[in-house]
Amino acid sequence: MTLEHQRRTHRCGELRETDAGTEVVLAGWVDVTRDQGRGLVFIDLRDRSGITQAVVEATPDGDGESESMRIARSLRREDVVILRGVVRPRAGGANPRLATGGIEIAASEVAILNRADHPPILPDDEEAARMDEEVRLRNRHIDLRRPRMQSILGLRSRVTRLAREHFQDRGFLEVETPLLIRSTPEGARDFVVPARLHRGEFYALPQSPQLFKQILMVAGCDRYMQICRCLRDEDPRADRQAEFSQIDLELSFTDRDEVLEIVGGFVRRLWKEILDVEVPELVRMSWADAMNRYGIDRPDLRFGLELVDLDDLAAQTEFGVFRDALAAEHRGRKGVVKAMRVPGGAASLTRKQIDALTEFAKGFGLGGLPTTKVAEQGFETGIAKFLAPIEAPLRERLGLETGDLVVFGPGRWETVCKALGEVRLKLGRELGQIDESRWEFLWVVDFPMFEFDEDEERWVALHHPFTAPLPGQAPLLESDPGNCLSAGYDLVVNGSEIAGGSIRIHQQAIQEKVFELIGLSAEEAESKFGFLLRALRHGAPPHGGIAFGLDRLVMHLAGTENIRDVIAFPKTQSGGDLLCDAPSAIDAAQLKELGIDLAGES
Ligand code: AMO
Repeated sequence: MTLEHQRRTHRCGELRETDAGTEVVLAGWVDVTRDQGRGLVFIDLRDRSGITQAVVEATPDGDGESESMRIARSLRREDVVILRGVVRPRAGGANPRLATGGIEIAASEVAILNRADHPPILPDDEEAARMDEEVRLRNRHIDLRRPRMQSILGLRSRVTRLAREHFQDRGFLEVETPLLIRSTPEGARDFVVPARLHRGEFYALPQSPQLFKQILMVAGCDRYMQICRCLRDEDPRADRQAEFSQIDLELSFTDRDEVLEIVGGFVRRLWKEILDVEVPELVRMSWADAMNRYGIDRPDLRFGLELVDLDDLAAQTEFGVFRDALAAEHRGRKGVVKAMRVPGGAASLTRKQIDALTEFAKGFGLGGLPTTKVAEQGFETGIAKFLAPIEAPLRERLGLETGDLVVFGPGRWETVCKALGEVRLKLGRELGQIDESRWEFLWVVDFPMFEFDEDEERWVALHHPFTAPLPGQAPLLESDPGNCLSAGYDLVVNGSEIAGGSIRIHQQAIQEKVFELIGLSAEEAESKFGFLLRALRHGAPPHGGIAFGLDRLVMHLAGTENIRDVIAFPKTQSGGDLLCDAPSAIDAAQLKELGIDLAGES
C-alpha cells in the first residue's frame, strides 16, 4: 500500500527518547520547513497534539535527488503531509521548548495528502495577538489550528465532560429540550423563526430552557441537566454573545442550601481538576450587602476600596449637597451619603484624574463626586472645610491615613451604589489594586423579588418571574412587594456572574400573583404561560435550579477576557458570523413560501 493510504502510527506530540529506533508514520500540517542545502531538509509537522521535527536527508551515495527529497523541498506551510521514518535522538541537540524536542524522525518517505494554497493567516499565537480579529474569524479554519485555540477547545471539552460526569453521577438525567418554541419572554429579545406550515406565525428560539426544565420536574424527572444553547437577540459584549451555552440544572424536592452545595462542589472540583486550585467553601453575601459595600450585585472581592455608609456623619455637616441628598426621598427610600477610602490616592491621583473620575461618576447619574485629601494636620482640598466637625469619627470609620483620598457619593441609594461601584472598579484597575492571581468566589443571595422599572413604571422580576419568594416572605407579595426577598442566587467569581438560578414557584396561586404584580393580566398570563400554569395545577413538586454560563466558565478557566476565544465559531460585535457570512438575505421564493413580505422592498 502506498504511504498516502496508510494510517498514522502516532500523533505529532507523542514521541519521546524512549521511542528511539521505532519506525513510525506521522501525518499532519507543515508548520515550517528549513532547507539547509547540502541535502538536508527539516520539516516541522504539526497536529492537535503538538509538533515533531522530521529530517529528510540525501542518501549517502548521493546519486541524484530522491523522490522524498524533491517533495520535502517543495513543501509550503500548511500543506498536509504523511511521512514514514525512524525515531532517533535529535542530531543537533534537544529542543527544550518542544515536548518532542529530544527526538526527530529520520524520514525515509514523504507524501503529500493535500496541497494548501498560500494561507491568508498562519496558525501562530504570537502573530494572532497582533492580528485584526475579524481576519482571524474569517479564516477560523486556520485560526483554530493555533496551539492556544486547540488548548481552549480541549479545555472546554474537559469542562463539559466533567459536568456530565459530575451531575450524572449524582442522579441528574440529561434531557434535550426543543429549539423551536413559543415566545416566552425572559428579559431579552427573542430570535424568531417563521413557521411555513402556519402562515403568519412564528416560533421563538429559547433564551434558556427555563420552562421546559420546570415542566420536566412536574413530569417526575427529579433531577435534570443539559448542556444547551441559548439565544438572545441582544448586543454582544466582551462576555456576552447572542448565541451562548449553558450548563443547565434543575432539581425536585430541594431547597437553596442543597442547590448551592451541589453546585459549589462542582465548581471546586472544576478548579481543582483543571487548574489545581483549591477553592474553599463558597461564602454567601446578601444582595443588600453586595450593593451597599461594593455598589454592584456581582462584587469583585479581589480588592478593597469598599463603600462605607456615612448617613449619620454626613447629617452632622453643613454641606448642602449632603443635606439635600439625605432629605430627598424616592419611592419611600431616603437618599444616602457613602464614601470610599482610596489609600495613597492623594498622591497617586492627579487633579486631572480626579476631574475625569467625577465626569465618569456623573455618567452614572451622580450629581458630582465630592472629594478630600487626608493630610497630617487635617483634611485638605475639595470639601475639607465641611468635614471639620466630623473629622475624628470619619477618620475612624474609614480607617483613614495621611495621604489617602476620600471620595463621597451623595444621592439616591441606587444611583450612589451604581456610580461608586463603577468608580471602585475603575480605580481598582487603574491603581493596580486587583490581584490577578486570586480567585474570589461568592454566592449572592437574598435578592429582592422585584425592581421598579422607572421607565415603564412597573415592577419587573429581578431574576425571572418563576423565582419563588424566600420561605416566609410570600405574604409580602400582597403587603409590600418591593421588600419581598426571593430565593434567587447568583454565583460570582472575580466580579463576573458565572451562574444564576433560584428556587421556583411551584404553586399556581403564587405564580399568578407574581404575574399580576409584574403587570400581566390573567389573559396575558394564560396566553403566554398557560402551559406552565396548567402544569403547576397537575402536581408540581417543589423545585429549583441554576444555569452556568458555560462560555464564561471556560473564559475564567482559560484566562481570557474575550468570549470569542472560547467559542469555536463565535459572532462578531455586530452579530455576524464571518466564516459563513451570516446573516444573509434569502431569495424571493423562500420568502414567498414563508408568506413574508419585506416592508419597503419589492
Ligand atoms: P441567566 O439569564 O442568569 O439565567 O443565565 C445564566 C448564566 O448564563 C450566562 N449568560 C450568558 N453568557 C454569555 N452570553 C450571554 N448573552 C449570556 N446571558 C447569560 C451567565 C448567567 O449567569 N433560566 C435561567 C437560569 C435558572 O434560573 O436556572 C437563566 O437563563 O453566566
